[in-house]
Amino acid sequence: MKKSFIVANWKMNPDTLDAAVRLAADIERALPTPMNADVVVAPPFPFLAPVGRALKKSMLGAQDMFWEETGAYTGEVSGRELASLRVRYAIIGHSERRMHFGEDDAAINKKARAAVSQGIAPIICVGERERAGADIPPIVSEQARAAFAGIKKESLRNIVVAYEPVWAISTTAGASGADAPERIFRARLAIEKSIADRYDPAAAKKVRIIYGGSVRPGEIGAIIKEGHMDGALVGGASLSPKEFGEIVRRASNR
Ligand code: PGA
Repeated sequence: MKKSFIVANWKMNPDTLDAAVRLAADIERALPTPMNADVVVAPPFPFLAPVGRALKKSMLGAQDMFWEETGAYTGEVSGRELASLRVRYAIIGHSERRMHFGEDDAAINKKARAAVSQGIAPIICVGERERAGADIPPIVSEQARAAFAGIKKESLRNIVVAYEPVWAISTTAGASGADAPERIFRARLAIEKSIADRYDPAAAKKVRIIYGGSVRPGEIGAIIKEGHMDGALVGGASLSPKEFGEIVRRASNR
């Protein structure tokens, strides 16, 4: 049975170390046994090491990383530094980084390549900003295509792509819940095709593709079954151990 892949993206929450360690411990307690899912918890940078110590069933992730390994880059964090904290995954190119920090496809590709070479599995985020009807706008395929430039085929099994339509993210003004499962499936096919065009169809199947945007326990089943996604990137609901645990429980029973 295929394992689901569920990521908790805490964003810039919670606001203290104590609260972060407590949240991690509460999430661990809320996870199901047995668990047929790979779960990644991505706290803010300063909480990575202590949160990592609180994780048992889940793995540690970062919310970003820089592309250089070391050097004079004030304020930046490298993949090698993250790997030394036993960080396994890094979210790359989240729409909030594209919007508020000016990250473009070229920067995101550099980060994705650096992650692979520095021993971190990238979770590459793509998605359109505006609600665009039933069709998946070309920007989604373009972002996916750009992200994979220079990445070797052998590395694909360690790469995750998250389709996150920005308009469906819970904190976006006017957001009205998760995207429809049939549209999510279309996004999956579009992303898979852009990877297949660069490599080949069999290689594209190795990349895990997940959905993000207002994922709650009520939606995860359809996202996986009808949306044919490998899992989900969860923001708001990942701050609630009860909701997050329930999402993982349902994703485990696929
Ligand atoms: P959300 O966030 O689940 O709160 O919509 C998802 C994300 O932005 O990663």
